[in-house]
Amino acid sequence: MKKEEAVMEKIISLCKRRGFIFQGSEIYGGLAGTWDYGPLGVMLKNNVKALWWKRFVDTRDDMYGVDAAILMNQNAWKASGHVAGFSDPLVECEKCKKRFRADHLEDKKKCPECGGKLGAEKQFNMMFKTNVGATHDENSISYLRPETAQGMFVNFKNVIDSLHPKLPFGLAQIGKAFRNEIAPRDFLFRSREFEQMEIEYFVHPDNWKETFEHFVGQVHGWTKDIGLESAHVHELEIPDGDRAHYSKRTIDFEFDYPFGKKELYGLAYRTDFDLKAHTGLSKVDLTYYDEDTKERFAPHCIEPSFGVDRTVLAILSDAYTEDELGGEVRSYLKLSPNVAPYRVAVFPLLKNKPVLVEKAREVYAELKKVFGAKVAFDDNGNIGKRYRRQDEIGTPYCVTIDFDTVEKDAGVTVRNRDTGVQERVAVKDLVNKIG
Ligand code: GAP
Repeated sequence: MKKEEAVMEKIISLCKRRGFIFQGSEIYGGLAGTWDYGPLGVMLKNNVKALWWKRFVDTRDDMYGVDAAILMNQNAWKASGHVAGFSDPLVECEKCKKRFRADHLEDKKKCPECGGKLGAEKQFNMMFKTNVGATHDENSISYLRPETAQGMFVNFKNVIDSLHPKLPFGLAQIGKAFRNEIAPRDFLFRSREFEQMEIEYFVHPDNWKETFEHFVGQVHGWTKDIGLESAHVHELEIPDGDRAHYSKRTIDFEFDYPFGKKELYGLAYRTDFDLKAHTGLSKVDLTYYDEDTKERFAPHCIEPSFGVDRTVLAILSDAYTEDELGGEVRSYLKLSPNVAPYRVAVFPLLKNKPVLVEKAREVYAELKKVFGAKVAFDDNGNIGKRYRRQDEIGTPYCVTIDFDTVEKDAGVTVRNRDTGVQERVAVKDLVNKIG
């Protein structure tokens, strides 16, 4: 096993062991390309989504949230170009019948599994098709959305008519997207059901360049918010011919995953492609009227697109650390406090001493007033075991209540996850220390 594969195996095993992420439908042997988040994974993922919403929506005056339906009228996907062109090249082995993504193969003639002859390359549409209602005919066809973006374009006029925002402004959405990937792989990296955090930012056509640059900076700022190592995030300018059909400029933000440098996020200049395409098919006017300049035009769109699950995977990959502490080898998650499921864990030194448990519960309740659900209470096993457990789930601080806390009012012991260093801190100073 190569070193990088070993690291991925360790991360996947930690995720299962500690309740972050499980294989989808595991008790039935799984369902390829699906993953279920467990209690700690949900906390980590919710922290990511809340931080994103705060940075890109709540703290700005020019962003509006949307939460559109996953099922959309099939015409939305005809207009967007997905029905005709959202496909990957597929080849099938004539011998074992296995199917592969042609652009992932070095030898496009020979089956990598059985050595058999591969058939001709075909285009495979990645949208999950379904029928809405009891009739199964052409008119009842719908698709699970392969991107959240179109839910925003089709609501452009609704937002203009109801909130009357002035250009420039953006629509933001977090939600599920579905792609019937030919070859789901690399844990959360390429799955068939995943979540996106997307912004469609509308500007006057003359102003697209500066807005594009603004979002380049915002993406880097965001990766720092969630604690990714700046040196692990790279920009890749996508050349003409390789970009999606709607884009005149795209930068992919790549990340150094354990399995190599791969796409984390995308930033695209979608021009007026989508608004014009929806106007064309729906016959609804999706232009904007500028009261000041008396100009009517289709705004152009800059789209920063963030995969939630790729974010979680990047965070876990960067955080996974093996070192030696106090003569013991340990593996732990060096998570930023911004995203860690718990910011702090509180322990009574001994679980069978009511005086310690009572004081620990008191400190726990006080910390919960400030940090809410991000405070854990742990009295299972000895202190060493509790430290190891909290290290593995990435809790930055552990607070222990001992006899000196209750008998001498001598504060509590605060232990730092990364260094293992312990210090005495007065109870009244705890929030400052941890915050
Ligand atoms: N609206 C533009 C769009 O969807 P994309 O590059 O196809 O662009 C955007 O996807 C982001 O969604 C990617 O950068 C990645 O973070 C995430 N993503 C795409 N396909 C994915 C998959 N199969 N599994 C997990 N995340 C995926």
